[in-house]
Amino acid sequence: MENVTVIDHPLIRHKLSLMRRKETDTARFRLLLREISLLLGYEVTRDLALESRTIETPLAEMRAPFLAGKKLVLISILRAGNGLLEGMLDLVPTARVGHVGLYRDPETLAAVEYYFKVPEDLSDRPVIVLDPMLATGNSTIAAVARIKRAGAQRIKVLCLLAAPEGLDAFRAAHPDVPVFTAAVDERLDDHGYIVPGIGDAGDRLYGTK
Ligand code: URA
Repeated sequence: MENVTVIDHPLIRHKLSLMRRKETDTARFRLLLREISLLLGYEVTRDLALESRTIETPLAEMRAPFLAGKKLVLISILRAGNGLLEGMLDLVPTARVGHVGLYRDPETLAAVEYYFKVPEDLSDRPVIVLDPMLATGNSTIAAVARIKRAGAQRIKVLCLLAAPEGLDAFRAAHPDVPVFTAAVDERLDDHGYIVPGIGDAGDRLYGTK
């Protein structure tokens, strides 16, 4: 699928299977998501620009590569996005962080915004939007549209699981934004949940059900 990268490393697949099991408890679920986000993060940041600077090792002077340009921005779609954020920040501790709060209207499944706080100067920074479940795609589509309106020009979306319906909708709305995911599942159910999926990511992360 164009502009969709499935990061199917064996460690990710194994850890995702552990997360899917309904008997996996909250603490283990959270730890697994953190571990997976490190592995996903490695791939989604693969094209970050580098610049050479002169350094001295204990033995010699050398030109060494360092991340170039303005700092990466990670934007978490609340609340489940925070599960991916933790591992991403372990990987890129200097990243700037934004948060977007959206809830799904239970009747229409449309995304309704209740919180938006992102770094001011998005236009010349790479932005990674963190949203573990690309289900209907409505919340991710709305979040990315809002982040574009705030000035971002170089955006990627990182999720854990995607449904084919959500990917189609997202790609139609934002053909310029690449999506990275650990897996594409079979379908959505009537309530907009991904099947077989992992259930409600927020509830499983925070033990709210
Ligand atoms: N959000 C979730 O947490 N799980 C799904 O399956 C779909 C949306």
